[in-house]
Amino acid sequence: MTPVQGLHREGLHEAVADSVLEGMTASVGDAKGLPNAAFTDPAFLELERKHLFARSWVFAGPRSAVAQPGAVKCLEVAGRQLFMTTDRKGETRVFFNVCPHRGARLVIEDQDKAASLTCPYHGWAFGLDGSLRGRPHFHGPREHDREGSRAERDCLFEVRSAVWHDWVFVNIDGQAEPFEDYMATAYKEYGDWDFGKTALAHYQPFRFQANWKLVVENFCDNYHVFMVHPALHDAQDVYRRTGMRPGGAHMFNEFVIGAEGLGLTVDPEAPVLPEFPNLSPENRNVSPFCNIFPNVTLAIFPTYVNLFCYEPVSVDETIMHVWFYFMDEAATGEGDRAGREAVIADWANLNAEDSGICRRLQEGRTCDAYEGGRFSPYWDAGTLHFHKQIANGVRGEGVFAR
Ligand code: FES
Ligand SMILES: [Fe+2]
Repeated sequence: MTPVQGLHREGLHEAVADSVLEGMTASVGDAKGLPNAAFTDPAFLELERKHLFARSWVFAGPRSAVAQPGAVKCLEVAGRQLFMTTDRKGETRVFFNVCPHRGARLVIEDQDKAASLTCPYHGWAFGLDGSLRGRPHFHGPREHDREGSRAERDCLFEVRSAVWHDWVFVNIDGQAEPFEDYMATAYKEYGDWDFGKTALAHYQPFRFQANWKLVVENFCDNYHVFMVHPALHDAQDVYRRTGMRPGGAHMFNEFVIGAEGLGLTVDPEAPVLPEFPNLSPENRNVSPFCNIFPNVTLAIFPTYVNLFCYEPVSVDETIMHVWFYFMDEAATGEGDRAGREAVIADWANLNAEDSGICRRLQEGRTCDAYEGGRFSPYWDAGTLHFHKQIANGVRGEGVFAR
């Protein structure tokens, strides 16, 4: 596809100045992270949207939202209006939500069974594969243009996309590394969990009064559990909780779950749900977390997996979208309803505990004395890795160079 124009490099933002990058090159214990402006300046968020999110692979939505052929779902990714659709052959694609004629927004509402898409302005019609189907009166009154006379530039603008299990990712500028390369470390880390055996059961958004990066960092922070989540802390083997370790663009950690609980639940009476098939005893006792760079977290348990996507609403507000997946039969079965609800309630409690801390992190970024902070070598190596990549993205360097 043709790269989107206008992603040229601009003057460097002070939050990613050379001196900031230098501060990140020291060892973890001596390094400094991104300064306050990266979390408080609306202009920095615009640069992230324009450069980093447009050049990286980013999560677009669950494919199950358009599972049926003819389904159309509107999306906003990195400030761009897109839509996702599945055609009659079952192929899912993502397009820019714009008509190639005079640029009207094409789709306003999600649809269940569209056979084609017709632009409301001059009636150009498109197949769900993006092809032009017809142009009424294109050559003059009653001189219609039919299939077969079109050029590629008359078709919808497709966005480069890839699917991993139920998760559709897009690369807006079309120039990121191959998706398989980008995800290689995640494939390796999670090859033992058969996500194909799960089904989407529940979706829930949570709102945080903090910059999206602080919410990501908090979710990747195993260090705070003993202070912020005391019940969870007591339910885990506290001596086997790890800090984040970088892996490719992403970062990974895990904690050992308590003997009784197979989920996050701290209630030993909670109903037991079916588990991932063929998990080794070691994997059955562990809960891996990761940040799929830039703004997705996977939280994996023996009985379910959650995908979190952190959507920046403004520089100091984030919606965390959460999709809950349980084993196929447990995703909808009445017999497992109580188990599902226990898991969902656990996460609501956990997020409520994190909400106040995320607000405090944001508030702390208004203090002049704090610039980049201090990192714990054991816990915070992943966060430093995250900051470096944000800086690379906003500066247009490394894998973001174009
Ligand atoms: S703008 Fe869509 S048909 Fe003219
Ligand atoms: Fe937390």
